Parts: sequence; C-alpha cells; structure tokens
Amino acid sequence: MKLATPIRNMALAALALVAGGCFIAVGDVDDVVRSVTYPPDFRYLERSEIRGAMWELAVHARTLHEAVHRHDEGRRAAVSSALKGMEAAADRLPSDGRPTNHPLLNLHLPRLLDEVRAARRAVEAEPPSYLAAATVAGACLPCHTRTY
Ligand code: HEC
Repeated sequence: MKLATPIRNMALAALALVAGGCFIAVGDVDDVVRSVTYPPDFRYLERSEIRGAMWELAVHARTLHEAVHRHDEGRRAAVSSALKGMEAAADRLPSDGRPTNHPLLNLHLPRLLDEVRAARRAVEAEPPSYLAAATVAGACLPCHTRTY
C-alpha cells in the first residue's frame, strides 16, 4: 500500500514508539496507521493481545480447577495463587470502561475481575470458603458459550 508521506511519517514515528515490547510486528504499517487514527482514549486491542491474555487466563483456570479439588494442606495457597494468576491475566486487558474495538470485553471483563477478586478474598478469609473459587469458571460464560 502506498501511503501519503505525512501519514507514512506518522506511522513510522508510531512504529518507533511502540517498537519496545508490543504486539505490532515491525513493518506492519497498516496496523500502525489503524492504531494512530483512533481518538486518544480509545484503546485498540490487537487480537493477539486478547488471545495471549486469554490463554494465560485459561491456564490459570485449569490450575484453579485442580487446586480446588486438592485434599492436602497446600490447597489454600494453590487456589489463591491460581486466582492471582487469573487476575493478573485479566488485568492485562482494559477493564476501566475506556472504549475498545471489543465491546464484549468492555461489557463483561469488569465482572470477571470482580468474581475472581471476590473468590480470592473468600479463600483468604478465616475460615476460608472455596465455593466462589470453584464456580469462578462460570465467569467465562458471558463471552464464551463453553469454557476452555
Ligand atoms: C469479557 C469477555 C470474556 C471473558 C469473560 C472471557 N473471555 Fe476468553 N475470549 C474473549 C475474546 C474477545 C476472545 C478472542 C476471540 C478472538 O478474537 O479470537 C477470547 C478468546 C479466548 C480463548 C482463545 C484464544 C485463542 O487463541 O483463540 C481462550 C482459551 C479463552 N478465551 C479462555 C477464557 C477463559 C478460560 C475464561 C474464563 C476464565 C474466559 N476466556 C473469559 C472474551 C472473554
């Protein structure tokens, strides 16, 4: 694609800005142009960014499932750490209500985070309760018809 020079310069400047540690491949000028043409409070999410966070979420959700079903003294720490992992993964995606190109995330991600945090509070309380932790995978359902 042939770009007008000002846009091309902008794209290259943006490319230089994001080159340290992001998901836009160097040379992917179309993606960069797309990301600089949205208003400043809009967060453009790369599909790979969502998928990366989702896979991390899924890995911790599986660990959580195993941890909840443990019958030894390591159960509590394992459940709590899996929930922390889910929270960190979900936190990589914007849940602050800022508009993104993914309306599903804007709508349901805050709820997922709430549920994960509530589950961890319950596990860390005295005495601990594992009920919320055991059902937290239900929080995947608003966006997925089945859990992974
Ligand atoms: C707020 C909405 C939302 C919630 C809640 C949610 N997801 Fe996702 N998930 C998405 C979106 C959006 C995608 C990306 C679909 C795409 O564009 O490929 C995705 C994709 C995935 C993928 C596939 C990644 C790939 O490479 O294709 C997995 C696995 C996944 N989610 C697991 C989970 C698990 C496990 C949970 C619950 C702990 C969960 N998701 C909760 C929105 C959500």
